[in-house]
Amino acid sequence: MPDIPENPFLDTLITRQRAEPCTMVIFGATGDLTNRKLIPALYNLAASSDLPTQFKVVGFARREKSDEEFRKELEEGNKKFSRQGHSNELWGSFAQSIHYHRSEFTDAAGYAELKNVLDKFDAERGTPANRLFYLATAPEFFSVVLEQLAAAGLNEPPAGKWARVVCEKPFGTDLASAQRLNKIVGEVFHERDTYRIDHYLGKETAQNLMVLRFANEIFEPLWNSRYIDNVQITCAENLGMEGGRGGYYDTSGALRDMVQSHLFQLLSLVAMEPPTDLSADSIRDEKVKVIRSLRHLTSPEDVAANVVRAQYTAGVVDGVERPGYRQEDRINPQSNTESYVALRLKIDTWRWQGVPFYMRVGKQLPKKATEISLQFKQPPQNLFKTNEVQGGQNALVIRIQPDEGISLRMISKQPGVMLRMQPVKMDFHYNTSFGKASPEAYERLLLDAMAGDATLFARNDEVEHAWRYIDIVENAWHGAGKQPPMCEYPAGSWGPREADELLSADGRSWRRI
Ligand code: BG6
Repeated sequence: MPDIPENPFLDTLITRQRAEPCTMVIFGATGDLTNRKLIPALYNLAASSDLPTQFKVVGFARREKSDEEFRKELEEGNKKFSRQGHSNELWGSFAQSIHYHRSEFTDAAGYAELKNVLDKFDAERGTPANRLFYLATAPEFFSVVLEQLAAAGLNEPPAGKWARVVCEKPFGTDLASAQRLNKIVGEVFHERDTYRIDHYLGKETAQNLMVLRFANEIFEPLWNSRYIDNVQITCAENLGMEGGRGGYYDTSGALRDMVQSHLFQLLSLVAMEPPTDLSADSIRDEKVKVIRSLRHLTSPEDVAANVVRAQYTAGVVDGVERPGYRQEDRINPQSNTESYVALRLKIDTWRWQGVPFYMRVGKQLPKKATEISLQFKQPPQNLFKTNEVQGGQNALVIRIQPDEGISLRMISKQPGVMLRMQPVKMDFHYNTSFGKASPEAYERLLLDAMAGDATLFARNDEVEHAWRYIDIVENAWHGAGKQPPMCEYPAGSWGPREADELLSADGRSWRRI
């Protein structure tokens, strides 16, 4: 694909106009997310001069700590996790905007005191500030934090300003809990001020999906059941339960942790109709239609025929011996939680009639790779009855991560006097075409939240429709008296045999990554 010339001026202009001065309050600020993602993202925004002027961030958490201690801990995290490295000088000035506020999440006095702190910042600035409340606590604390924010009047912005809330995932654990949560959030903040984060939407290539589809003329005419045989979405991770994640993961599993959120978001971007414009609601209207159109599975047998669940057993990943899922730290040795899931989905829309969407997601697979692949139909006639071309189907592959890019596979004649054919690839790599690394998803998403652009955040109905689909599968697995089989795969393999059979039953196979 041709390289697109960079326009750094336009780039900076757009970003600078967007970010609005504000104070961000992070609830649960001593957790891993703040250290690993949020502060490095803010630091990188500061490094590229995209943070609004007079920006402040306040960490709200239960442990006793001074501003200085908090800054020191975050500095260590930033050294490890910052995308653009760590400069002592920049950190020195950025860290002055970081503050710590100790309080229990349930303590009304702590919120009243927070209000005083925010008012004090306003007085120093000489103007009231916008407020961005970030819920990075365990989900069970969301409701109490929201109630307390409302009780302290912190959800009411100062005149002419805004107050917004960002909710980390998971947003609920099933439909009922997501509905309850939506109701509680809705009582405290307007939907337009509610930002349900799904960091996959902040990934550069996920954003590029719409550009690829709707800013080019060549793909969209082919983007339908007439030309596409099947769509495959793979999200492979070569990690297991490192870093103490087992406790949370074992209560969740691959279906809830990844499919309900990240994979359904990618699915909706790839399958949606063109929006009427680029407003957040026009785009989200189209995305939600895809999730609503997913054909629901109707019985446990239907679930068993279309969904494979599995756990890894001991194996070798990247040359390192790994324990099985049930032997991992903080995992119940009898756990019935899946670390891998593969699904066959149908979307009941005009465009996608008869096209299966296959998804697979798992831990301890051979490599980290997220990609979407549109597998095209074969030509109507096999004119070249020469050699059989292995893996010869045309495919448009969108690599979400790593090595972000897009490739198009086609069949070509091998040079020589004989007519022999082989698949070749046209390949576009972000790094080489644009010569700069993509920002981290959280950088983009935090900036959008400060700018009031909810396009890359999930709307209340989107989340609920996703849970409707997931609940049916979860109920078939865990409903009273049910104990469907758990398949197995060795760590370091591409998943269980049953996932291959899901596709071979349709005369297809997973794309080799
Ligand atoms: C999180 C999941 O949302 O996404 C994790 O809870 C998963 O289980 C992670 O590892 C993957 O994110 P990324 O950006 O590393 O692909």
